[in-house]
Amino acid sequence: MATSILLDVDTGIDDALALLYAVASADARLVGVSCVAGNVSLDEVTANTAAVLDLAGHSDVEVAPGCAGPIERPLVTTPETHGPTGTGYATLAAPPDRISARSGIDLIVDRARSEPGEITLVAVGPLTNVAVALRREPRLLHLLKRLVIMGGCFTVAGNTAPRTEWNMHVDPEAAKEVFAAAGRGARSLPLVMPLDVTEQARLLPRHVARLAELAETSMESLQPLVSEAHPLMSFIADALRFYMEFHHRYDGFYGAFVHDPFAVAAALDPSLVSTVETTVDIETGGELTTGETVGDFRGAWGREPNAAIALDGRADLFMERLSVRIAGLVARPE
Ligand code: BDR
Ligand code: CA
Repeated sequence: MATSILLDVDTGIDDALALLYAVASADARLVGVSCVAGNVSLDEVTANTAAVLDLAGHSDVEVAPGCAGPIERPLVTTPETHGPTGTGYATLAAPPDRISARSGIDLIVDRARSEPGEITLVAVGPLTNVAVALRREPRLLHLLKRLVIMGGCFTVAGNTAPRTEWNMHVDPEAAKEVFAAAGRGARSLPLVMPLDVTEQARLLPRHVARLAELAETSMESLQPLVSEAHPLMSFIADALRFYMEFHHRYDGFYGAFVHDPFAVAAALDPSLVSTVETTVDIETGGELTTGETVGDFRGAWGREPNAAIALDGRADLFMERLSVRIAGLVARPE
């Protein structure tokens, strides 16, 4: 049976791939998307999200705007990573009446309440929406089938500060609230997809070439496409060209980490990762480490586990699925 996925995004290039992976997967039912400010502003996130879904032929999926900024801090965005509007070199336009009148917080709470034990909430942006939804509905983690979080780093360096991953960096107070609530009365421990596992999956030009080959498009490289026939493939190429240039500058390889679709893939098939159960808390007052995900691997705190952390994964299998599934979408938009 398909897994009912509710995605919480800050779209974002890899968020766009997460959306595409979800709608391309026969084992997923995307029941809605809540948006949160992070990589870019909330308005941009919402517009990007709707436009990507429309481009993929899924204009029926509800896109609901959530929080426009973190709980306590001013919003920081990252145009150097995702481009000036969040989609790299790609430009997208969403119809103005496409955005839901319901807020992203209501979407999360309503869905969890109306289908108890059915919804897997996959949060691939800052945890602001999830924290606010938890304030509204303290039983949220019990009502969900599972919460999956892309964020944090435990045994590898941060990608924003030495010990801090981006989603945790943007709203550490929200992350602290979510982890404080996790583990108590939930149906399952949240699955955490930190950089330790997501950086094992590197999207390289050869993966995009394979995707294009599988989709039987004419694309052979990441050069701008003139093809009107494959607007989704053009979007992917134009977005990824920017993302790969970013990683070339900052991470030393021409390719890209694809954190967010890996989180969706693991939500659908947990056998893609191996996990360690432990207690996680978030540093919010550090001089150097604010936003650090601290894992109590030796049980020093004597607290119950509140997370299943993926520290290792089958990155090659995930990359192959990413190519095959998105190629299917390019070849046959609904
Ligand atoms: C996370 O940060 C964002 O820039 C990406 O979309 C991803 O969710 C990786 O640290
Ligand atoms: Ca993201």
